[in-house]
Amino acid sequence: MDLDAAVAEARLRYADANPTSAEWDARARAVLPGGNTRSVLHFDPFPFRVARADGKFLHDVDGHEYVDLLGNYTAGLLGHSPAPVLAAARAALDGGWALGSVHPDEVRLAELLTSRFDSIEQIRFTNSGTEANLMALAAATTHTGRSKVIVFRHGYHGGVITFGSDVSAVNVPHDWVLCDYNDTNEVTAAFDEHAGQIAAVLVEPMQGSAGCIPGDSAFLVALRDACDEHGAVLIFDEVMTSRFSPGGAQARLGITPDLTTLGKYLGGGLTFGAFGGSSAVMRHFDPAQGGTLGHAGTFNNNVATMAAGVAALEQLLTPDALAANHARGEQLRERLNATFAALGVERCVSGVGSLMNVHGTRGPVTSAHDLVGADDRLKELFFFHCLEAGWYLARRGFIALSLEIADDDVDRFIEVVERFHP
Ligand SMILES: Cc1ncc(COP(=O)(O)O)c(C=O)c1O
Repeated sequence: MDLDAAVAEARLRYADANPTSAEWDARARAVLPGGNTRSVLHFDPFPFRVARADGKFLHDVDGHEYVDLLGNYTAGLLGHSPAPVLAAARAALDGGWALGSVHPDEVRLAELLTSRFDSIEQIRFTNSGTEANLMALAAATTHTGRSKVIVFRHGYHGGVITFGSDVSAVNVPHDWVLCDYNDTNEVTAAFDEHAGQIAAVLVEPMQGSAGCIPGDSAFLVALRDACDEHGAVLIFDEVMTSRFSPGGAQARLGITPDLTTLGKYLGGGLTFGAFGGSSAVMRHFDPAQGGTLGHAGTFNNNVATMAAGVAALEQLLTPDALAANHARGEQLRERLNATFAALGVERCVSGVGSLMNVHGTRGPVTSAHDLVGADDRLKELFFFHCLEAGWYLARRGFIALSLEIADDDVDRFIEVVERFHP
């Protein structure tokens, strides 16, 4: 089979089926460079434009309905417009929103989050996971009086803290030290080489954007030990992985980071970010404790997010709901891998719980190096195959199951995957 021809055909079929989205794309490109304002949402030839969403479904402007397996890259864990969250956000807006003052819901949300995450004694809110990581890095460099930060190749911590095999041109200019993920020896060597200069290690317990590459628990424990030994701050970026349990990936791993960054669904699916940790580090934001760091942000405590987050945590993100979502994801991943093995095709899925990534290689995938040379055309064909059958996942193969996805959805999706024979 000529894969180039198959991809060209799939794109043509898609374009023919989406004339209204194509018109919107032309309009968008005139005023939004690239036709969008969030680069990851683009795929060729153009993305379908969503008119509305409800429950587990997206409805586009050409009248298609998709089961949403992407869940807004993890921010949509609750599904679309869950009633308790919608009611709470509406009630908050009814009480006025541009308060320019402190209000009760930010305290309630802080109490709920600090009671869930053992390592977080104190917390502050931001508008995004990116900002949360920026503030955590400021806290760590101030706390240690050092400047270097160990990060990992292919790690993603936000639009301005993103790493391929090298540092991105849009990154903020921290004094980065890049190591390979899951490579304890390289981290040990970096600590030795830069003795007394490492302020922090910033790490995802599972590398999400890199392709859902699980962190080896021995590696993550070694990071904790190295930070203790060298007086550095261990920052767990749990913007994606916090859903693995009520206390996040760290509770499953039994590791206590000094700082944790959060985001995505914890504001009920609205604009959200947070960073928190031990009072010893967070005191730098408290003038009464001698803290010298400010933390600004017009919308940090916006009433809609604070109320939505409280409703989500109190009513929907129960330990049982999170455990069921995690187990369903594990089951889907195992069944997908079994299906690919039975078909004997160049494909596999990696991930943890409800977060996973389909790859155009047989695997196993334990590091981004394992993805080098994988045929991206297979992934593109898989993506269009799923779309044509009414299932939406990320073009890069990323899936983040929402609480709306049930066992029979998993069964039906497996049937769709079994029919993929490029
Ligand atoms: C691990 C991780 N950290 C940080 C971020 C950035 O969050 P935001 O997009 O809210 O800035 C993301 C977003 O995908 C992420 O996956």
